[in-house]
Amino acid sequence: MDLVLEGRAFVKGKLSNWCIGIEDGKMVQVAKHLRGDERRDYSDMLILPASIDPHVHFRDPGMTQKEDFSTGTLAAAFGGVGCVLDMPNTLPPAVKRSDLLEKKEIIARKAWVDYGLFAGCVPGSRIEDMAPHAVGFKLFMGSSTGKLLVTDDGEIARIARQVKATGKVLSVHAEDEGLIQKSEEGSLEDHLRNRPARAEVAAIERLARLDCRVNVCHVSSAEGLAALEGKPFTKEITAHHLLLDRSSGRGAYAKVNPPLRTRDDRLALLQAFIGGKFDMIGSDHAPHTIEDKEREFDTAPSGMPGVETTVPMLLAMVKKGSLPLEVLVRAMAERPAEIFGLNKGAIEEGKDADLIVVDPRAVAGIKVNNLHSKCGWTLFEGYDAIFPRATYVRGRAVVEDGDIAGEREGRDVVAGK
Ligand code: DOR
Ligand code: ZN
Ligand code: ZN
Repeated sequence: MDLVLEGRAFVKGKLSNWCIGIEDGKMVQVAKHLRGDERRDYSDMLILPASIDPHVHFRDPGMTQKEDFSTGTLAAAFGGVGCVLDMPNTLPPAVKRSDLLEKKEIIARKAWVDYGLFAGCVPGSRIEDMAPHAVGFKLFMGSSTGKLLVTDDGEIARIARQVKATGKVLSVHAEDEGLIQKSEEGSLEDHLRNRPARAEVAAIERLARLDCRVNVCHVSSAEGLAALEGKPFTKEITAHHLLLDRSSGRGAYAKVNPPLRTRDDRLALLQAFIGGKFDMIGSDHAPHTIEDKEREFDTAPSGMPGVETTVPMLLAMVKKGSLPLEVLVRAMAERPAEIFGLNKGAIEEGKDADLIVVDPRAVAGIKVNNLHSKCGWTLFEGYDAIFPRATYVRGRAVVEDGDIAGEREGRDVVAGK
């Protein structure tokens, strides 16, 4: 055994004392007692599966002044995320096989954690060509950052048919472009008026006609949630839609698509999340520079960072007793692994040893100066959080005790398939 971690580990749905034996990056034995060449005793801490963030926008290639794969994945590691799935609205967008291969070349050797790339769907895109290189497919039904957009139902049906043949998931930005108004905006209220909840509902209803595995990203409204009831889709939620609403202030910094909505929307989402009704928590980490966000509200881009703060804030909620640990672990690790077919997401023999070590006493306010995204801002300054003491990716500590502990050994989860 190369390494044995000992602690109160989350195994088969509950916490108890375990030894986790690791060899060649995988957990090979989970037992009450184990010998190993190297032991780490975390017996006064929790060991959880590292999070898999199914939704980040790392801006590499093309907008690396906002983020690059190195800073993005380092932020992920510090935030307890051992694997990120990156969206295709980079420059150029990843919408062809050659784009995906070039993007892989550019980001190779930059990553601190494992990663997979989404292939973007556009009119005419060759789904089958991209499938061997993509962890999943992304469809924008409403326009947002970048130019990826498909509005035609016939084209969406074609995409869904072809995605179905690949067996992969279609992750959808579900806002109906036809119901998004383009009036000039001066505030979050205006942004919300331009992008009403009914645009989300309409997009979800259109998706219901499709026959493929659909994941609805960043559900943002009570109506959207209701529309999803009984539909065979998986559901993803962000921390910002759970913790912020239109009254949270911060002007263009809080401009995001889909928008922050009302307090009632937020509370409905929070209640559903706590009740285990969401499959996944995704950060939708969308870093923009301070300079971009300081522009006039109308022209400022939408999106906010979150890959480093999402899991730590939710761990603080667990500590407070307002979120069951098993609900969090399911949404941050188990379900993303199941949905995207990754050999990760649970403490189990045979799975990748992607683990986080959490000291439940270490609740502290978030400080932007301690974060690692290139964008240099957060909407969650001062929010309670528990940052992991260590993040392991395939058995190697990437960060430990607030410092970088490893090398850039993140791998493409789809490589070689
Ligand atoms: O607010 C958003 N920002 N929503 C998106 O769909 C894209 C994202 C980005 O890439 O900036
Ligand atoms: Zn989106
Ligand atoms: Zn997104």
